[in-house]
Parts: sequence; C-alpha cells; structure tokens
Amino acid sequence: MSGQGSTGPGQDGPEGLKMPDVLKLGFTRFARIHGVLVVFCSEDLKFGPATKKALAPVDASVRRAAAADRFTGKNGSSLEIVAPAGLDLPRLVVIGTGKESELKTRDMVKLGGAAMGKVPSAATEATIFAELSTGALRPEQVADLALGVRLRAYTFDRYKTKRKEGDERADKVEVDLACANSGAAEKAWARKVAIADGVVLARDLINEPANILYPAELARRASALSKLGVAVEVFDVADMRKLGMGALLGVGQGSAHDSRMVIMRWNGGKKGVEPISFIGKGVCFDSGGISIKPAAGMEDMKGDMAGAACVVGLMHALAARKAKVNAVGAIGLVENMPDGKAQRPGDIVKTMSGQTIEIINTDAEGRLVLADVLHYVNKRFKPKFMINLATLTGAIIVALGQEYAGLFSNNDRLVERLSKAGEATGERVWRMPLGPEYDKMIDSKFADMKNTGGRWAGSITAAQLLQRFVDKTPWAHLDIAGTALGSPQTDINKSWSSGWGVRLLDRLVEDHYER
Ligand code: BES
Ligand code: MN
Ligand code: ZN
Repeated sequence: MSGQGSTGPGQDGPEGLKMPDVLKLGFTRFARIHGVLVVFCSEDLKFGPATKKALAPVDASVRRAAAADRFTGKNGSSLEIVAPAGLDLPRLVVIGTGKESELKTRDMVKLGGAAMGKVPSAATEATIFAELSTGALRPEQVADLALGVRLRAYTFDRYKTKRKEGDERADKVEVDLACANSGAAEKAWARKVAIADGVVLARDLINEPANILYPAELARRASALSKLGVAVEVFDVADMRKLGMGALLGVGQGSAHDSRMVIMRWNGGKKGVEPISFIGKGVCFDSGGISIKPAAGMEDMKGDMAGAACVVGLMHALAARKAKVNAVGAIGLVENMPDGKAQRPGDIVKTMSGQTIEIINTDAEGRLVLADVLHYVNKRFKPKFMINLATLTGAIIVALGQEYAGLFSNNDRLVERLSKAGEATGERVWRMPLGPEYDKMIDSKFADMKNTGGRWAGSITAAQLLQRFVDKTPWAHLDIAGTALGSPQTDINKSWSSGWGVRLLDRLVEDHYER
C-alpha cells in the first residue's frame, strides 16, 4: 500500500494557487454594529427587541420605505436602504422571514445564506442581527445562520487571475453575527464549522478540473484527513490487482492516470463496535470511454467524482467535530478514457466478489467501480450499513430533476432515517423501486450480468447491479447525478457544485448513530 497519509499539495490546491479565506466570521453583542447591517423581520413588519432598539433612530424611514416598496416581511423578500439617515451605516438590509412559527433548521441555514447574499461583494464589513421577531435565537440556531453565511460566501475562483471592472471583490469581509450570548453561539459554531468545512471541501474537489484532480491527486487530498486523526490507506493498481478488483481496474485501464482506492477510517465510537460506512463513486473524468459521450456538456464530467468528494467531505466533518461514531469512508478513483488499452464493449471482467460482468457500454462505468468497492468494504469491515453516493445515471435527472436525489435501498429503516434527515437539511431524497423483474433486465448471455439494462428504467437497473454486491447488509444507494452538479442557484449556493450529501449524512449520523 502506498502513501499512508502522504501530503503533497494538500487541500489548498496546487502550489501558488492557495485560496485566501475571504470570509472572517465572528460572533458579537447587539451593541457592536459595524459595516452593512442585516436584520430580520416577520410578516407585518415585526422586529425583535434588539433590532427594534437598533433601528429606533430610523423607524419612520424604514416604515416609509417598506410602504413604498410594498415590503411586509414575506419570506424571501427584502428591503434595502442605502446610507440610512440617522444611522452611521453604509447600508441597512431588512430580510423577511414570513411566518416564524414555521421556520425549521434548514430555513435558518437558508436565512443565513440570504443575509450574506445581501452583503455587496465589495463590502468589507457586515453585521447580521441573529434575532427573529419572536426574540433571541438558541445558540444552535445562530450557528445554523452562520453555516448559511459560510456556504453562501463560497466561491471557486482559484483559476481566475483577473476580475472585470465593476466586479471587484473585497480581499476580506468581516461578518459578525450579533446575538444575546455570543460565547454559547461560538461554541455551537465550533461544531458546525466542521460541517461547513466538509461541504466546502467537497465543493472544491468537484469544481477542480480533471487535469489537476486525477485519481492520485484526489487520493492525496483525501490523505490530508490524517491531520484530523483519520486513518487513511491508499491502494494503487498493484494492490487492487492482488485483491482481484477487475471491474474497477477495467474502467481505468485506458487512462494515462492510474486508478486508486482510498479507505478512510474515523474511530470516534466505542472500541470494537462495527462501523457505519460510506462509499463514493470517484470517476475523475468520464469521457464515456470507447462508448464515447457527445461533446456538448462533456466538460461537466470532471464532476463525476462528486460521490467520492461527498464521502471525503463527510469524513472531514465527522473527524473535525469528533463524532462519537466508528465510520469508514471508501472511494474508488478512476478516469474513464478511450484508448488503445481501453476496455471494449463485449469485454467480460471479473469482480473481486467472483461475479463476472459483460461490458455492453463502457459509459456505464460507475457501477463497475462501485461493485468492487462495495464488496471490499462489506467483506473487510462487516459494517452496520453501507450508503453509497454516485453521479450514476442521466436517467435519474430525467426522473427527479435537481430537487431530490434518487434513493434505492434494501432496508426500510435506513430509508426512513435518510428521508427525515433530508427534510431536516433540505438535501432531500426520493425512494425508487427495486425488484426481481428489474434484476432480470441485467442478465447476460455470456457472463453473470451485463453492465446496462436497456433504454428503460436506467437508474433502477444500475441500482440492481449494485445490489448484487452488497449481500444482506443494510444498504442505500443515492444517485446524485441531478443534485450534485450544475446545481441550481440557491440562497446557500452559487457554485456549480453544491457539495450535496455532506449535510444530509452528517445529520443522519448525529441523529441515529452516535453513542
Ligand atoms: N456519469 C454518468 C451519469 C451522469 C450523467 C452524471 C449526467 C451526471 C450528469 C454515467 O457514468 C453514465 O454515463 N451513465 C449512462 C449510463 C448508460 C450508458 C447506461 C447514462 O446515464 O447515460
Ligand atoms: Mn459514464
Ligand atoms: Zn460516470
């Protein structure tokens, strides 16, 4: 095995392109306002007590501006007053929260994002009043706001060497959340910042181009988790050949970049207790291979490792917040390219499990990678459950669009828990069917199975293939092709990649698997 915790360029990206952390996030008292002031108000223009006090000198003009703009505090609406007379501020922003009795965790995160979105990119300072009309927020809720601020502030511009005129950004923006108990909020944030950093790490990995982030480089960046106490093992081609991972290796054999598998272990739970496990598809670039994809949009396939990125981000979050759980993260890393050495349609590969697969379409490669990694994790760790994430099929985008990830599972309890965690975080999942009728569709004339099942039910036949490699272990497969890439612009994400899944799975762990 190579590279136990080897470093190299590390998380900060290629040498000389270190990303400066633009956002400086802090917590303060209500009395210390600086820079742009952002406050919340509920329907009918109701403010909390601290907000009321701060806005007293401008109460009349706020009401006049609200009337002129027909602003009443509906959720999603906002009011802006530049250089308000009576307050020594560059700008006052009022954000509507609507009916506050209906606000959930995911809405607090969203509000934080909306607040950050109202801070002009050239601004260097801002204060956000962490208060609703119903009064002070719990420290946990203040930290949720902060999470939204952090996620909204994310940009991936390490490859931009200049900015257009008028699009200049401040090198630093100091954002303080004003609240009743800043000490307690800071404590709650210390835990939540682990999740924020996990999401940011996942987004960064997904946004990186494939000439920079090939399998060995992604393995190197995952290895940086050893700094947090994660045990990292990197398997190279020779290691995987010894294990008999013919399906994974077949996908990578046409690439100039060698394949890797990375196993990450975080042991924060009781000694000897079986781990939970997360498995990610890490196709660093998916050209389709010999069954090559059309040119239009192919550049998006640099993000075909989003499942792996999510697993790395999640392991970061769990380790950084010292989660009381034993967890294994496993990622299969390959590049799928056409080449003289590439695998062909008609080829038959032997998986580590011993089952054989006939390749019908070399573009159905993710399932081949996962087949070997799922089997490996199941056999070595005997985990409590396996959850895999993969940008697996275009068909799931046709079925669900970008709002829900497809969920396939052999275990109702896991489905229930994932669905609840999805509603809580806003990273939602929708269960899709499995069954022997679909399973028949991947039977092969020549091998134990074939890697595609025809035109119909493409996401389901892909899931059926994965299921053949998990035995009886409770398992869930999340098809994130729609949710992870080309993400819709939201209050908490303006980036091409959302980092989808890190918050969902961290929540699942926190709610059910920490002792
Ligand atoms: N990585 C793709 C799926 C994908 C498509 C992800 C669009 C994100 C956006 C996957 O490897 C693939 O090519 N799937 C094929 C399977 C087919 C050949 C059976 C597909 O969905 O077309
Ligand atoms: Mn493909
Ligand atoms: Zn793919």
